[in-house]
Amino acid sequence: ANGHAKAGKSRNIIEKMDESGKNCVIFYGSQTGTAEDYASRLAKEGSSRFGLKTMTADLEEYDFENLDQFPDDKVAFFVLATYGEGEPTDNAVEFYEFISGDDVSFSEKGGAEDKALGSLQYVAFGLGNNTYEHYNSMVRNVSKSLDRLGAKRIGDAGEGDDGAGTMEEDFLSWKEPMWSALASSMNLEEREAVYEPVFEITEKPDMSAEEDTVYLGEPNKNHLEGQQKGPYNAHNPYIAPIAESKELFNDETRNCLHMEVDISGSNLSYTTGDHIAVWPTNAGKEVERFVNALGLREKRHMVIGVKGLDATAKVPFPSPTTYDAVVRYQLEICAPLSRQFVASLAQFAPNDSVKAEVTKAGNDKDYFQEHVASKNYNIAQFLEAMGGGAQWTNIPFSLFIESLHKLQPRYYSISSSSLVQKNKISITAVVESLETPNAPNVVKGVTTNYLLALKQKQHGDPHPDPHGLDYSITGPRNKYDGIHVPVHVRHSNFKLPSDPSRPVIMIGPGTGVAPFRGFVQERAQQAKDGENVGKTILFFGCRKPEDDFMYEDEWKQYGSDLGENFELVTAFSRSGASKVYVQHRLKERAVEVNKLLLEKAYFYVCGDAANMAREVNEVLATIISEQRGVPKQKAEEIVKSMRSSNQYQEDVWS
Ligand code: 2AM
Repeated sequence: ANGHAKAGKSRNIIEKMDESGKNCVIFYGSQTGTAEDYASRLAKEGSSRFGLKTMTADLEEYDFENLDQFPDDKVAFFVLATYGEGEPTDNAVEFYEFISGDDVSFSEKGGAEDKALGSLQYVAFGLGNNTYEHYNSMVRNVSKSLDRLGAKRIGDAGEGDDGAGTMEEDFLSWKEPMWSALASSMNLEEREAVYEPVFEITEKPDMSAEEDTVYLGEPNKNHLEGQQKGPYNAHNPYIAPIAESKELFNDETRNCLHMEVDISGSNLSYTTGDHIAVWPTNAGKEVERFVNALGLREKRHMVIGVKGLDATAKVPFPSPTTYDAVVRYQLEICAPLSRQFVASLAQFAPNDSVKAEVTKAGNDKDYFQEHVASKNYNIAQFLEAMGGGAQWTNIPFSLFIESLHKLQPRYYSISSSSLVQKNKISITAVVESLETPNAPNVVKGVTTNYLLALKQKQHGDPHPDPHGLDYSITGPRNKYDGIHVPVHVRHSNFKLPSDPSRPVIMIGPGTGVAPFRGFVQERAQQAKDGENVGKTILFFGCRKPEDDFMYEDEWKQYGSDLGENFELVTAFSRSGASKVYVQHRLKERAVEVNKLLLEKAYFYVCGDAANMAREVNEVLATIISEQRGVPKQKAEEIVKSMRSSNQYQEDVWS
């Protein structure tokens, strides 16, 4: 269990809390940072409203055998995201296996039957997505395990739903009754919330950003020294050369990118169906807007030191650095705003009328919806709009480090086969700019636009930067010559059958086709190598054959390698009188699809989770029901069991 311990760092949470005088620990199980963010918010609120001595803790950094000695005058929170098909997030795997194991054993009181956790009081909140089958299974299962072990839950185990887009409101309405219950259990008195910064920012005017100890976006010391070193992982990206980039199609609102990222010599490896993480950079235009709104423009390149004011506060990036580098490389400045964050800004408003307006937006759900959320403001746009031209010079910079997400890597389904190109990872992505009716601001995909900028730079495009985002990339990443992108690889369970003679059916409209390009590429190679490759059917959907038919020529090539065992079935949604989607084509092939499934074909779906994947599931159940003459409910159970035996696999996003 010591695998992740850093030298000299204790994995004993009880000792750690004792030493630092804490009575409230907020554990988080987080994959993309959202759960971590909610944990920090709870920590801040607990301390400012109730005087709790709070700390947040990454589940992966502690051991849990001594939870039976958790003092009864303290409290532990568990903020747990459910990941993928009901799995724990990577950092919660060990904790989850420990707490839900049949033979859980604690250091003092021993086994599970002893109600070993009788002195532990806990609070639980889960982050889930109801478009997935195992909705919020982490928080549900962990609460069940804790209850079984005798722990006492304070308030309800909250459940936030990302699928319905109500995460924030679910959280806000869960936490008030929870705080009241906790206050009465621990005899806490509520007080007027006072903001206490978590981080101290020290400006260093006599230091130059040119000095080679100053971090300008590098994730760690090796990178700072220009000597990147593996192993490369979620904490340490590999700055990879882009071997090739092109656009598969484009129109006024969309650019579809294909990129080849060279990982040779990095020791990174992947297998077909894995994901690649891309570490983005914020657009120059948004960095500019941010420093302007805060009146930081003049000192944006000033060197600053950032340190936690308390031993348990972790600075989420290396220091010394500069304001500009923090905003450009470390903070998610283009994300939608939470109502609670807006409420916390009111006290720093430049004048009383702005303060009144922001307070209202923070407190009134409907007003917030109408005047903030529906406008798609990012933080700086919000400050500009509300401030009426005045700069917000009173907001402590610490508040942004505490409240904004850390800029997260984004994951893409790898669109190449590791059998064919072991050292080159393909990415297929549509550059997004989301237009919402009535909203003044077009939301620009942070990472896809960054990738587009890299492509334009590589090609010296004559009309770069169609969205005016200014990705003139300066600073640290120039330590590596040429065009590079920071990446790491995440392994997935979305895999071809190990026996290539098994048939496969793939459903991948739009960029959902990405992993299937890898799958088909792999099977074509296997066929060329003389292996017996089974039937390979790909259902692909797009708007019009002449507009956005991705990899059209490649499919022909793979088809000639695989012979008649390969079939591409297309669904064009905007070329005929009515919309044709992949699931309609699937239905037309009911007889064959059913026959292949009975021959143990693997069935794969990639793309939009909210609608497409759901509808495909539904159609498949209908096919099975009709073709096998079984009731619909029975057919649904068959589909379910296909999922649990991995015969039905999904790689979906919302
Ligand atoms: P549309 O945008 O014309 O409605 C790739 O994005 C393709 O997926 C497009 O042809 C798109 O069609 C289609 N699509 C949109 N919604 C879908 C759904 N619910 N199921 C399947 N395909 C869908």
